[in-house]
Amino acid sequence: MEQPSPNPQPAVSHHLVFPTRVTTIAWPDTEALNADLLRIFDEDPAYHQPEHLETADNANMLDLCDTHPAVARLRDLFIQGLRSWMEAEGIDGQYTAELLMFPVYSLPQQFVPAHNHLAHVSAVYYVRTDDFSDREVVERGDTAAYFRSDGGVLLLHDPRFNALLMDLAKQDAVKIFPRPGLMVLMPGYLWHSGLPNYAQFNRLAIVGDFILREHATRSTHAFELAFGQG
Ligand SMILES: [Fe+2]
Repeated sequence: MEQPSPNPQPAVSHHLVFPTRVTTIAWPDTEALNADLLRIFDEDPAYHQPEHLETADNANMLDLCDTHPAVARLRDLFIQGLRSWMEAEGIDGQYTAELLMFPVYSLPQQFVPAHNHLAHVSAVYYVRTDDFSDREVVERGDTAAYFRSDGGVLLLHDPRFNALLMDLAKQDAVKIFPRPGLMVLMPGYLWHSGLPNYAQFNRLAIVGDFILREHATRSTHAFELAFGQG
């Protein structure tokens, strides 16, 4: 007869639930692509007005694909990045992806306050940034790191409500130190901020927002609705 263990051990299981996938891709050989993209914005005075940042997502850069091959190439990189993010999430099935591309052309001292995106997956591609070659692309830190005034970085906010107050692990600051050619993909719900541009030049990042529609597994009907002057 089996004797009970004198010191039975508890069965401990750790589950990392609700993780948030953030994917970074360092695309190679992007110098010519970045130069072409910069020319679009550096040479058009309309983008040099501080107000432009307020309504940057009113137009879709995809409209420029026919005249600017660099925009079409970046579109393809975004789609490749999306594929990588979704495969890593274990998603399968047939989807239609709607893409909105818009520039974040930040003048010196400009910043982007905390926000999330109207998108399932949100990507950003960095064209011109500060020099962060001495930093890791993704740095995790404590509350002090969260509040440190790093300029020109992407600050990700913990999506768990009040996590900044309550996280005993003190690893609630995640900062992305961008560099030209870097793409970051994350769920659109993840709150983040673009910290102020302390550089003397205009920095350029381009956002690619994806809305994904799974091909019908159930019968639905779509309706066009207009309100007010719409
Ligand atoms: Fe954003």
